[in-house]
Amino acid sequence: MIFESHAHFDDEAFDEDREELLRKMPEWGIGCIVNVSASLSGVERTLDLTRQYPFIYGAVGIHPDEVKELNEDRFAWLRAQCMGEKVVAVGEIGLDYYWDKASHDTQKYWFIRQLGLARELGLPVIIHSREAAQDTMDMMKEQGAGLSGVIHCFSYSPEMAREYVNMGYYIGVGGVVTFKNAKKLKETVQRIPLERILLETDCPYLAPVPFRGKRNSSQYLTYVAEAIGELKGISSQEVIQVTDKNAREMYGLC
Ligand code: NI
Repeated sequence: MIFESHAHFDDEAFDEDREELLRKMPEWGIGCIVNVSASLSGVERTLDLTRQYPFIYGAVGIHPDEVKELNEDRFAWLRAQCMGEKVVAVGEIGLDYYWDKASHDTQKYWFIRQLGLARELGLPVIIHSREAAQDTMDMMKEQGAGLSGVIHCFSYSPEMAREYVNMGYYIGVGGVVTFKNAKKLKETVQRIPLERILLETDCPYLAPVPFRGKRNSSQYLTYVAEAIGELKGISSQEVIQVTDKNAREMYGLC
């Protein structure tokens, strides 16, 4: 069965058919889904989903685009939510200098605080990093040492992927790997071991070819597994099996 390591089914893009879609996931071969929150209201919606569906687990954290909604009281609330029964990670957290919705100092401050939460509670982290390659790497070296986790929707160089793998992190690979122009990511997939790759959609975003530009959803991960298999010269079945094992190990769901 496929392990979907990063989805946003709480997104309004699924408001019209969420139930119908999620009900079909097991028959589509999706064994497990981690729904990742990005905002305070997203945390509540994520936890609701984990209560409704046995195969959905949750990640609790505030995305760098949304950190302006945090203060000490809300952070205390966030910490309490992290102790929920089906919460398997802190995320998604990190730095986003593309949208730049909060100052870099504010982003870094709450990134460090949430890394600290993961350390305190013994949870892995889901890292979002966009156009912030060096700052993210520096912070992960200083503040992320000894943690486990995934660099989600990896978009940097193969050399940097290597460095994260050497630090013990996983690399999240999604629909982008099926895009013709995704040279760097294809090279990254070829150069890191399959044992360090997680399958993810980031749905509703980043649908793989042939659905590029449409709403993404977990059942399309078969296309991602096929693309990874082609790059590595192995079957998509092997990709699905190994990445399932990887995700279970990282999230502590063995
Ligand atoms: Ni995401």
